[in-house]
Amino acid sequence: MNELCTDRLLIRRWREADLSPWAAMNADPEIREHLGGILTREQSDASVARYEAAIEKRGYGWLAVEVRGSGEFVGFVGLDDVEEQDLVGGVEIGWRLARSAWGHGYATEAARAVLAYGFDTLDLSEILALTTAANLRSQAVMRRLGMSHDPAEDFDDAEGGRNVVFRLRREDRA
Ligand SMILES: CC(C)(COP(=O)(O)OP(=O)(O)OC[C@H]1O[C@@H](n2cnc3c(N)ncnc32)[C@H](O)[C@@H]1OP(=O)(O)O)[C@@H](O)C(=O)NCCC(=O)NCCS
Repeated sequence: MNELCTDRLLIRRWREADLSPWAAMNADPEIREHLGGILTREQSDASVARYEAAIEKRGYGWLAVEVRGSGEFVGFVGLDDVEEQDLVGGVEIGWRLARSAWGHGYATEAARAVLAYGFDTLDLSEILALTTAANLRSQAVMRRLGMSHDPAEDFDDAEGGRNVVFRLRREDRA
């Protein structure tokens, strides 16, 4: 999973030049509202090192998203292993975009390419998506992708926040 291309986006491995706009995203309280607060530059850089190491090791992970027309870095999308308190486990899809890149359909467009990769290349039978109950924008992406939510699976995390689980099985994708 090194590179995926959509109409408007290039989903690719991280580059040195991404570190600064990525740190700016991680210092934006609106972007980090449902993600546990803002990150320092050091924490932000360390996250990219972890993402790259995971891709090297497993072949999939969080990849950088760039707008093809301008070459602008706008965030990440990808797949990760998830394990929550023995309640939910599997491979999850996720996304995070710079504030200026919201409202263009980029998250959904990037996620469709990642779902296709997960089902067709990695041969996954199901892909999950997790977020807080309050993160309605992220849940809207999940719904646009045709993922479904069973309230019986909602759970509280270690900090007491309510979380939701969305699922898409390979045979149910649009
Ligand atoms: C979650 C997040 C990625 C969603 O971004 P988003 O831009 O709302 O989602 P999409 O890419 O699907 O875009 C959909 C919007 O683009 C609009 N849009 C504009 N042009 C479009 C186009 N050509 N095609 C599709 N949609 C388009 C849609 O109408 C929709 O607008 P709406 O929000 O007013 O209904 C973003 O809010 C984010 O990064 N949040 C912070 C990080 C985060 O919480 N990540 C998730 C953690 S679980």
